[in-house]
Amino acid sequence: MPDVYSNIREVDSAIQERIADILELRAADPQQVEFLDHYLKSLPFAEQSQVLEIGCGTGAVTRSLARCTCISTVAGVDPSTILLNHARLLSQDYENVQFSQADARELPFDAESFDTVVLHTTLCHIPGPEKVLEEAFRVLQKDGLLVIFDGDYASTSFAIGDNDPLEAVARAAVEVIAHDRWIVRKLPGLLRKTGFDVLGSRGYAYSAACDAEYMLTILDRGADALEASGIISASLALALKDEGRLRAEQGNFFGLITYGKLLAKKLS
Ligand SMILES: C[S@@+](CC[C@H](N)C(=O)[O-])C[C@H]1O[C@@H](n2cnc3c(N)ncnc32)[C@H](O)[C@@H]1O
Repeated sequence: MPDVYSNIREVDSAIQERIADILELRAADPQQVEFLDHYLKSLPFAEQSQVLEIGCGTGAVTRSLARCTCISTVAGVDPSTILLNHARLLSQDYENVQFSQADARELPFDAESFDTVVLHTTLCHIPGPEKVLEEAFRVLQKDGLLVIFDGDYASTSFAIGDNDPLEAVARAAVEVIAHDRWIVRKLPGLLRKTGFDVLGSRGYAYSAACDAEYMLTILDRGADALEASGIISASLALALKDEGRLRAEQGNFFGLITYGKLLAKKLS
């Protein structure tokens, strides 16, 4: 079972609609809101910045960018017309936002068109991240900033003890939630190779205990992947999902994913 995002245009439209709901659910999660606010506040945006978000999905991050006072315009691109339809609908009240359909590896913009490029939980899903970084480099002005926030999905865990069966579900989930679960750890090297100066990095720990709604969608995908691979039966997959929900109801659920943020500058 491959990462659904890595070939999003081929994914069944009902599944893309479900993905749209999950993206908005995640964007509303208080910890995810805090991570985004925290890194946006730390960015040295120039006045009247022109910003590009690559892989904007339903536009949750694009809308947050558009609310920053020093940002003049935000362009959002994504290959999925279904996700872009949601993005356009949800940003009707924003005059400084424009969405277009595009692949990150072949951006429809002239060289040096943007001051800042943002990749928020997108790069880990795209086969050929080197090409994405080259395109980000090309469309950035000299001294322009690239901000990457992505899941260090190799860190995903649901275990609350040794031999916890939910940890097997976490291991199965990481194989389907990202094309490259190690990308965050490779990024400093990849960025330098592309010609960026890495200005800084930091990690964020997303741990779900009380409010596990988004994390349970990941548990479901892990259980579904184990079932699809033929390792477990449908009834065990259901029982594992139920176990996660029971723990959440009883205040006994734990889920962890760490994220990394890197800030890089295009060298003049
Ligand atoms: C996890 S979502 C993140 C969406 C948005 N950045 C957010 O955080 O809400 C990953 C996004 O990457 C997009 N994507 C997948 N392949 C892509 C590609 N080749 N070029 C650009 N975006 C891509 C998907 O369609 C999806 O919207």
